[in-house]
Amino acid sequence: MNTVYLNGQFIAREQATVSVLDRGFLLGDGVYEVIPVYHGKAFRLEQHLQRLENSLHAIHLPPPLNARQWTDIVGRLIQLHGGGDQSLYLQVTRGPGMRDHLFPTQINPTVFAMTTRLPVAGTAEPEAASALCLADSRWEHCNIKSISLLANILAKQQAFSQGKSEAFLIRDGLLTEGTASNVFMVKDGVIVTPPNGPHLLPGVTRDLILELAHTHQMPAQERDISQDELYLADEIWLTSSAREIVPVTELDNRPVGNGQPGPVWRQMLRHYRQFKANLATQA
Ligand code: PDD
Repeated sequence: MNTVYLNGQFIAREQATVSVLDRGFLLGDGVYEVIPVYHGKAFRLEQHLQRLENSLHAIHLPPPLNARQWTDIVGRLIQLHGGGDQSLYLQVTRGPGMRDHLFPTQINPTVFAMTTRLPVAGTAEPEAASALCLADSRWEHCNIKSISLLANILAKQQAFSQGKSEAFLIRDGLLTEGTASNVFMVKDGVIVTPPNGPHLLPGVTRDLILELAHTHQMPAQERDISQDELYLADEIWLTSSAREIVPVTELDNRPVGNGQPGPVWRQMLRHYRQFKANLATQA
C-alpha cells in the first residue's frame, strides 16, 4: 500500500512530500473523500466525486481535475495495489502560499490520493458499537467534507477515553451525526435519520441506505431526532464508507433496545451486501 498519487505523479509514499507552506498543513484549507473499494472497484465513485466537487465549490476552489481524470487515478491506484478491497483517500488543498488567511492570488492546488486497508472485512459481521452523546461544537458548514477535523477528533477521542467507539453529536437538543459517521435509528419498525443540511455530511452510505429502504419497501423517514428520542430507539446504527452499517447496542451506558443488534439492521445489512455483490458481478 505504498504508491501514492501526488500532483500528477505516482510515487512511493516515502518520497511524496508537500511544501511546509501548504495551506492544508498550515490552515486546514482543503477537502477530502474516503471511498471504499470492493472487488477492485471504487464503490459509488460517481457520488463521491460529486460530493468532492460540491465541497470544492463550497470552499471556492476550482476543481483541479475532472471526473474522468479522477477515475483514471483511482483505477490506477487500485490496480497498483492488487485490486480486492481497499479504502481510497482523496485530498485537495489550496496548495502552497505565504501564510495568510486570504486566498493566494496564484492558486496551485495540492492533489493527493492514496489507498489503505479497508477496516471492515467483506463478509464478517460488524462488531457492535457503543456511543456517547456529546455537544456538537462544530461550525455551520458540516456538509463540506473539510480536512479541518479538530472538533470531530476531540469528540471521538473523548468517547474513546470513556471506552466508547463513537460520539453522537447533539446540537440544540437534536442529533446531527457521529464524528465520522451518519446515524440512523429504528422505532416501531420505521428507519429514521436526520435530514441533510448544513449540520451534517450527506453520507454516501446514508443515501444508499435510504435508496435500499425505498427499493425493499422498508419504511424510512428523514426527520429530526431529539436526544431524548434516541434513548427510546429500538435500534441505532452508524454508517460510513469505512464501516458500512454498524449496530450501536449501547448509548450513554444504557442498552439500546434489548442491547443486541436488531432485526431491521440485519435485514438492511443483507440488502447492502447484496447490492455490493450485484455490482461485483457486473462487468
Ligand atoms: N467519514 N459524517 C462524517 C462527519 C464523516 O466523516 C463521515 C465519513 C460520514 C459518512 O459518510 P460516508 O458514508 O460518505 O462515508 C458522515 C470518513 C469515512 C472519514 O472521515 O474517514
